[in-house]
Amino acid sequence: MSADFTKSVFILIVSTIVVASFSILVWVLPNLLRTPELVANSTAKPLTAIQVAGRDIYISEGCHVCHTQMVRPLEPEMKRNGRANQEPDDIYEFPNLWGSKRTGPDLTNLGRKYSDQWHLIHLIDPRRVVPTSIMPAYPWLFEQVLTGDDITEKMETLRFLGVPYTDDEIANARLQVRGKTKGEALIHYLQSLGVDTAEEDGQ
Ligand code: HEC
Repeated sequence: MSADFTKSVFILIVSTIVVASFSILVWVLPNLLRTPELVANSTAKPLTAIQVAGRDIYISEGCHVCHTQMVRPLEPEMKRNGRANQEPDDIYEFPNLWGSKRTGPDLTNLGRKYSDQWHLIHLIDPRRVVPTSIMPAYPWLFEQVLTGDDITEKMETLRFLGVPYTDDEIANARLQVRGKTKGEALIHYLQSLGVDTAEEDGQ
């Protein structure tokens, strides 16, 4: 009887479904139900169109492979990287960019730390501002111009996922992005990091 149990594909499939459904029930469902509460307690602001475009460059260039956006609530880490992440901070993050490896510093609270000019030089050639840097250079980001052709669809998708964009914001998105370089959009995104949540704590 016990030998039959391990050989039955049917029992394997049924037991897998039972275990997976249990995980959804205790892990996923309660968090979905808490979403309205998280939204009510969040100071996070939706990204503007140009920041959304910049975030896509951040993802496509793999910045998240070397940089985290996740400060844990530990004293030494907060001293180095600023305010620790809180659950309601990430309600508009699709997908989240917490990352898992810190070849470079954490960027959660990066906004306003440097000028736009500093970021421009650093992205074109990191060694010009940090001589010992091992970060790759991204000079082409300031040569490639965005058309903005897909930004409307991206904003609509984000709205579908719960980001409260108005019709006007979506209608003007293309105008905001068109003609800007990839690098400019990326800097707009970098300068927004942690700014909305820092205001809440008066930092
Ligand atoms: C191979 C790993 C690697 C990749 C990929 C990488 N970085 Fe870095 N980054 C670093 C390292 C190492 C440093 C620290 C030295 C420095 O400041 O250049 C750094 C520093 C930074 C800083 C300064 C942070 C601070 O607080 O001083 C910013 C901003 C930054 N990177 C942005 C980016 C962006 C945007 C991308 C993607 C376009 C990127 N990085 C890709 C390794 C990386």
